[in-house]
Amino acid sequence: MLIDFSTSSLKDVAADWLIVGLTSNPSDAAKSKPPSLEAQLDEMTGGAIGRLRSRGDFEGKNADVIPMYEVPGFKAAHLLIVGLGNDKDLTWGRLQKAYSAAFREITERASASAAVVMPTATFPGKSSKDVVELLTLTAVSAGASAGIYKQETSRYPLKQLTFLSSESNSTKLEEAATHGQIIGEAINLVKDLVNRGPHDVYPVSFADRASQLATEYGLGCEIFDDNRLAEEKMFSLLGVGRGSEQPSRMVMLEYKGGNPDETHIAIIGKGVTFDSGGYSLKPSDGMLTMKCDMAGAATALGAIVAAARLNLPVNIRVYLGLVENLVSGNAYKLGEVLTARNGVTIEVCNTDAEGRLVMADVLCYAVDQGAESLIDLATLTGACVVALGEDYTGLFSNNDDLAGHIEAAAAKAGEYLWRMPTDDSFNDQLKSDVADCKNVGTRWGGAITAAKFLEKFVGGKPWAHLDIAGPAYISTGKSHREPGATGVMIKTLMELLRK
Ligand code: BES
Ligand code: MN
Ligand code: ZN
Repeated sequence: MLIDFSTSSLKDVAADWLIVGLTSNPSDAAKSKPPSLEAQLDEMTGGAIGRLRSRGDFEGKNADVIPMYEVPGFKAAHLLIVGLGNDKDLTWGRLQKAYSAAFREITERASASAAVVMPTATFPGKSSKDVVELLTLTAVSAGASAGIYKQETSRYPLKQLTFLSSESNSTKLEEAATHGQIIGEAINLVKDLVNRGPHDVYPVSFADRASQLATEYGLGCEIFDDNRLAEEKMFSLLGVGRGSEQPSRMVMLEYKGGNPDETHIAIIGKGVTFDSGGYSLKPSDGMLTMKCDMAGAATALGAIVAAARLNLPVNIRVYLGLVENLVSGNAYKLGEVLTARNGVTIEVCNTDAEGRLVMADVLCYAVDQGAESLIDLATLTGACVVALGEDYTGLFSNNDDLAGHIEAAAAKAGEYLWRMPTDDSFNDQLKSDVADCKNVGTRWGGAITAAKFLEKFVGGKPWAHLDIAGPAYISTGKSHREPGATGVMIKTLMELLRK
């Protein structure tokens, strides 16, 4: 997508679509001088906006879109009005939601170019650069379709995006647009990997894709096969993968953008490329979406690729635990005891609590490689979705500083995240009669006991766990988002790594 900046008037910009955001409370701005954007547009359209308003065809609710196919006197072929809602309620997240609906409306058709009027609203701590970055990443991600296997394309990415802005010095804004493009592409990478079926994305093919991206963007890359995983004593991960004909893998990626003398931050991703539940088999409805169970690994991969492309001054290592959780004569069983890399013995009481078994070994390995802090991403528990709903990521941490940074980054990125308690009393649920611990607790606080299980493998290092089981994948689409994978937490991770 080519991006440029123009100071020309709304009427003079040539594009297939001209996008203008309007609020639901235009009367507040009606008397403003110079005339408000809405007043200008109303005049230019010979009063069409006012007529839409008075007929009740456009109320300006957030993410409402009105395509206008005939706009006499405009160089742009079509006009798209998008509702921003009441300007007092206009948050960063709602700004993105509105423009996402707008770009999705346009990219449903084969239109090559769009011009977008820079929103006039201001946001605390945000500059016009941030707005350009957000709208660019929104345009890029809105152009990607979940219909990967359709014979006919259902979405048409824009070839050209023009920002109409009064700022004459556009160098800073151009850089922001490039950043937005890189982050939007990282989100699309995650969505592509997650939306592909388990026949297409399995441990070996996922590892191949990671290795190709590492070559393309100059990342260090190492891949452990089953033999190497056994040499490294990662028998908890291997136990889960044993039921599948697909061999397991661990992928390590490295980006050195920071001081060579300093250590690195580790990002660990759950990469269960399909979760049948194993012998604790999931019912069909619950299994239906379990191609999404590698979203944590995809997000970690997307984040390190974007960090490298943005040349961020940090050292990052990414560790992906890639397995398939299936049923077979060789699959791991209930009552079996697995020994993790750090020697901890685990009684398997539910083969559907497999994510934590995979993560246990990968976290241990990351600690042994000298990470100064660890962040893991995993579609770990249905319990987290019960607790926080489908939009919120659960945050669990043993370190208030790290948790605080992540909360601040999510707030800045406009993503929903909520910290959960991690009191040691939850450990009682994981006591086993035969082994050091078991892999499940009771029904109550299931997202927390899962986090407490992971904590046993982080060697006391500063660690944060992001349970993305709710927001990583959505079964029903909305006007502002495609059904399927979302790429959640990429924006938050980028905010975090930039600091
Ligand atoms: N992959 C699932 C969690 C999940 C559920 C992800 C819904 C996305 C949407 C995980 O492996 C799992 O099955 N967890 C069990 C744990 C239980 C057996 C303690 C669950 O949440 O039911
Ligand atoms: Mn499971
Ligand atoms: Zn799972």
